[in-house]
Amino acid sequence: MPIILGLESSCDETAAALVGTDRTILAHRLAGQEAAHRPYGGVVPEIAARAHVEALIPLVEAALGDAGMTLDAVDAIAATAGPGLIGGVMVGLVTGKALAHAAGKPLVAVNHLEGHALSPRLADPSLRFPYLLLLVSGGHCQLLEVRGVGDYRRLATTIDDAAGEAFDKTAKLLGLGIPGGPKVEALAHEGDPRAVPLPRPLVGTGEPHFSFAGLKSAVMRAVESGRWRDADIAASFQQAVVDCLVDRTRRALAVAERPSALVVAGGVAANGAVRAALEMLASGHDLPFVAPPLWLCTDNAAMIGWAGCERFEAGLVDDLAVPARPRWPLDPAAEAVRGAGVKA
Ligand code: KG4
Ligand code: ZN
Repeated sequence: MPIILGLESSCDETAAALVGTDRTILAHRLAGQEAAHRPYGGVVPEIAARAHVEALIPLVEAALGDAGMTLDAVDAIAATAGPGLIGGVMVGLVTGKALAHAAGKPLVAVNHLEGHALSPRLADPSLRFPYLLLLVSGGHCQLLEVRGVGDYRRLATTIDDAAGEAFDKTAKLLGLGIPGGPKVEALAHEGDPRAVPLPRPLVGTGEPHFSFAGLKSAVMRAVESGRWRDADIAASFQQAVVDCLVDRTRRALAVAERPSALVVAGGVAANGAVRAALEMLASGHDLPFVAPPLWLCTDNAAMIGWAGCERFEAGLVDDLAVPARPRWPLDPAAEAVRGAGVKA
């Protein structure tokens, strides 16, 4: 069975994993950088890149140790080649190239978004193409038809911010710190989701695009007004995001070409309220609902190793000259949407 070493370094997690094409995760190691970025209230690209340099090789060694193997036993090396913070992407990709060259193994350059998009197939062997994917993370909010490995049709994207970014901003406004999403979710448990009137941007419109900038500003005004309890703001904000995600996904289901399942992936897919609402939507459409386990939703290297497995098995290996790409759409034919892609 081929075994792929996966490397991830596109944002603020450094990770290495060994994944078999039979879906065995032989090892997965991850080092977060929260403490380094906390004083700045967000991810600082230069600090992230330096931290990746220090962490990556030790993580590779630890993963190989966990699996009780050496690099010689690996069949290919898969590294995130974008999109993301360019310094970090370069660290991971150059490390992958160096390891591939030294060990005489093929390199697979993985699109980070493809890592998220295919991760549900690592978790659920029964998941078949095509499926409708809601990809919601800190940098992206898209609805995609996943037709096959390397074959994506983007049905919608955000015209301004990503949903995860809105969670992070709300956390900052409420003084919760980073990582924002899980902290807002925890506080929302203690609040009333109907307490604070907040907008649901673009809900009900024809094309299933997303917008969260107006919601973010409304949260800011609610915080500044001093009228509401923090927990009520958190709960009402989370409910507004859930309503937007569900409405837009329902719209996409109406135009998607016979998906076999409704699937969610990316960091925000770790949110319990988001998962529960999408599961209900799927059951209303008689579709299976697939969401990866929580640790596989947020950035990790197992999803990169798995995308590497899928590409390796399809014969899709890359030349060592492959470039790092700060922007890299999954569907190159998708039209640019006003304001979209502000964040990589
Ligand atoms: O996929 P990911 O780890 O990194 C990107 O590729 O962006 O997603 C990170 C995003 C962050 O914005 C984080 O706040 C959000 O996912 N997130 C959550 C939760 N866990 C992570 N948002 C809401 N609820 C959560 N439980
Ligand atoms: Zn991600």
